[in-house]
Order: sequence, then C-alpha cells, then structure tokens
Amino acid sequence: MIYQIYPRSFADASGDGIGDLAGITARLDSLAALGVDAIWLSPFYTSPQKDAGYDVADFTDVDPLFGTLADFDRMLERAHDLGLRVIVDIVPNHTSDAHAWFQAARASAPGSPERARYIVRDGRGPEGELPPNNWESVFGGPAWTRLDTTDGSPGQWYLHLFDSSQPDLDWTNEEVRAEFDRILRFWLDRGVDGFRVDVAHGLAKHPDLPDFVISEDIDSMGAAQMGHPAWAQQGVHEIWRRWRSVVDEYDGDRILTAEAWVEPLSEMAAWVRPDEMHQAFNFPYLMTPWDADAVRTVIDDSLAAFASVGAPSTWVLSNHDVIRHPSRLALTVPSPQGHGIGPDSPGLPDPAVAQMRGRAATLLMLALPGSAYLFQGEELGLPEVLDIPADRREDPTFHRTGGERYGRDGCRVPLPWEADAPAFGFSPSGESWLPQPGWWGEYARDRQEGDRESSLELYRAALAARREHGLASASLSWETTDGDVLIARVGDVMVVCNLSTSPVDLPAGEVIAASERLDDSLPPNAAAWLLTT
Ligand code: GLC
Repeated sequence: MIYQIYPRSFADASGDGIGDLAGITARLDSLAALGVDAIWLSPFYTSPQKDAGYDVADFTDVDPLFGTLADFDRMLERAHDLGLRVIVDIVPNHTSDAHAWFQAARASAPGSPERARYIVRDGRGPEGELPPNNWESVFGGPAWTRLDTTDGSPGQWYLHLFDSSQPDLDWTNEEVRAEFDRILRFWLDRGVDGFRVDVAHGLAKHPDLPDFVISEDIDSMGAAQMGHPAWAQQGVHEIWRRWRSVVDEYDGDRILTAEAWVEPLSEMAAWVRPDEMHQAFNFPYLMTPWDADAVRTVIDDSLAAFASVGAPSTWVLSNHDVIRHPSRLALTVPSPQGHGIGPDSPGLPDPAVAQMRGRAATLLMLALPGSAYLFQGEELGLPEVLDIPADRREDPTFHRTGGERYGRDGCRVPLPWEADAPAFGFSPSGESWLPQPGWWGEYARDRQEGDRESSLELYRAALAARREHGLASASLSWETTDGDVLIARVGDVMVVCNLSTSPVDLPAGEVIAASERLDDSLPPNAAAWLLTT
C-alpha cells in the first residue's frame, strides 16, 4: 500500500505554516505504525509554488520552503530504516516559467534552440494575435499565452496545458529527453525507490497541434476528452520505454507509476506493458459513483485490463486533485473532477452518509487484489473542507475561473495531529497555509489512537488483515453478480459491501473488520470482511 504525502500539508517543523521535509521525517513512525509499505511525496522541488510545487524551477534541488537536499537524505534514510520505500513525484510535462530554460526561451528569438525546448508557435490572424489553436487549459481559460516580443517581431505563443506559469516541454526534442534521463538518475542515485509520473498522458502532442472539436467541457485532466490531440497520444510509449530502461539500470525494485487520466481501462493498460511503467493510477475506479453495478463493473474491468499486460491492478479513492472520497461519494449532484466543492455547490453531502460511505468504500478497496494508494488524512476520515475564504484559496483553478470552480484546496488543508495543540499539531507556531476549520480537532490523530471505532483504527486493522491474509496477491471471485450488495471472495476473506438502502443479513462467519458497529445485519453504506468456513 502506497501512502501519498502532500508535503505542504503533512507536518511543519519550521513553523512557517507550510509542511516540510523535517516535519515528514519526524512523523514517519506514525505511517509505519499504520501499516504503510511505501510513501509517495508530491513535489518539494525549487518552485515559485504557483501550482503548489507542480511548477518546478529546478528538478534536482529542494525548495527552501521544504528544506534542503540534506533534509531529503535524512528523510529517505529514516524511511528506509522504518522499512518504508520512497517514491518521488516527477513532473515532465512542463516546467515552471521560472525555470532557467524558460527564462532563456523568453529571451531568445523565434526559431532558437532555447525556444525549441518548449512548444512555442506563431499565432494565427494577420498579426499573429490569435492563439495557435483552440485548446483550453485544464485549469480554465486558454492553453496559450503570448510571449513579449524580443526583437520587434510579433510575439509568439507558448502552450501550457495547465497554468500559464507551467509551459509545456517539447518531448520531440532530444535535449528534453536527455535532461530527464539525468533527473531520473539524480534521484535514483540518491536512493529513491521510484517515481510517480505527473501528467503521464500529456507529454506527446499531435504533431500538427490541430484544433480540438469540443464535444464536452474540459473537466477532468483529459479523461473526458479522449481523442483530444493533446492527450493520450501514442508517442508517450516510446518515452516510457526509455525511462524503464533507465530505472532498470538500478538494483532493487524501483518503480514507475503513471498519473494517466486515460479511458477506457483497456487503453490505460498500454501504459503498464512489461517494458513501460510498473503501475498506473486507476482513475476510472476513483471516478465511479456509489452504485453497485458500476463498482462491480469497474472492478472486473480493472482486473481484466491490468492482467492482460501482466501488471497489478491499482485502486485509489482520494488524492490531492479530487474531492476527498467520503464527501465525493455522498454528493447528490456530481462535481466534475478538479472543480471542487464549496459552500454554494449544489448537492452537498450529508456528513453522516459521507462518513459511512467513506469507511465502507475504503474497506471494499482494501480487500481488492493489487496495489492500493491512500492520500494523507483519509485514514483520519477527513471530509472535504468547504468553507475556505476566497482570499485564502490558492488553487490556480479558482483564480483562472474567477471563482466559478472552487478547485482543489478543500482536500489539501493541513492535517490535524493533536486536538489541543496549535494548528492541531500541524505547526508549532499555529500557522497553516490554508485555514483549518474549528472542528478539525475532532479528527485529530491523537483523538483516534486506540479508539476501536475510529477511522484510524479501522484503516490500521484493515491494513494488518490485508497483509495477514495476503489479499494484495489473492484472486477475486463474486458470490453474487447482481443486486445492490457486493459480495466477493478474495483469498480466504469474504467482503460484503451494502450499497442498497436497507440492512442486509450477513453471511455466517467470523467478522474480522467492519466499517460500522454490527448486530446480525449490515446497514446500508457499510462493509465488512468475514472468514467463512
Ligand atoms: C497533476 C497533479 C496536479 C497538477 C497537475 C499539473 O495532475 O496531480 O496537482 O496541478 O498535474 O502539474
């Protein structure tokens, strides 16, 4: 099981209100105690932080906000001592506009080698005053921004699939490819166990950069736009084969895992063929609503698709880009990925239903064979935070859409560790880069430790049982293939998840984990694991 640390919001040792590497090191034992196998760290590299560090200005250094390379080494050593593997995020689709390469591209003439590292084109219209095509940024607004003129010629435009501070690299350029080989080796030499590859479905663009004939809003990192000439182009596979050969030069089990918003699952499986990446995030699973047929189908499709290429299936419910899953699974009006929810959103979740569904969904997920990914704070049962004042929101999505989309800040609020400490134990100074709600202390880790009914102890028990019963490498068979109650056998464990609206009788057997207190029946929005004879 791989646990995502979002460094800005995990633990702040320096007291500036932004989490850091020293804070992570100090808290790693709590992750080992939870039963984590590996941690994945979102970016901590030198960055102006326009997209919370996914705008990287130097891929081989640590931003002073997070510490130093020496702090990184200490964190890595401590993790390895605790038996935790460490995966770092790598962001190859774009750089920050503060990266030395982009500064040079800005200052250089059209057609120069400096500009050729990015996707820079003349505009359309008599004076080049219109963007080269009609693509839109994932964060809203146009995907092109015009450069200032350097020599009197009309300014060219650069492509940014995300914020205008994140210019896209041109991966047809060998210099770009060679630079990333160097960056991979830099971190592998330091001892990391692998990479989570950001926007892995975006690096190769259609060579003609044609207009996209829009059939749907851009709303999901490309998933809703299969056929879009910016996303999921076949050219990416050659890049992953190259990266795989770099990673394979190193000893140990080092892995590449793809953030690829690709549908259908059969297409995503191409990302994890034996000579490409090891794993890919299962976003179709994450996007599945609370509906028994849909959940059963996505589980079957996932197991079949990944098995067809010999890769483990993966499972994920939450990350730093989506509404935390308890809240998301209880929305009565769906919210497109990345748009987020706030106090004025339609169909807001009933908190009690959200909590139950969140726990049940987790217990179902942790029974499934393959590799599960958790996002920091989900073990505390955290819901999405809705009431963040506009002037404290930082996600570029919020600002690029004039507040029309709330964006992703609601899942990124710094963690509560101790109910009665400043900033709930996140920071010794009481500072917190996003405001923590007053009720955050109810979810604090120290309140949950040892409480058998807490979310933390549910996660801990389920992870221990997952390991003890070898569920990650077991096979799954359904006991029922229709109806609103999912019943499956995974190895010697039977998992039952009630997505109906009434209680159901539990099969006979010993209950080894349950998302709710049980009598003889399993309530709606609940799940249990049993040992049957
Ligand atoms: C990925 C990250 C997201 C970021 C985007 C641009 O999707 O997960 O947080 O904003 O890439 O780098």
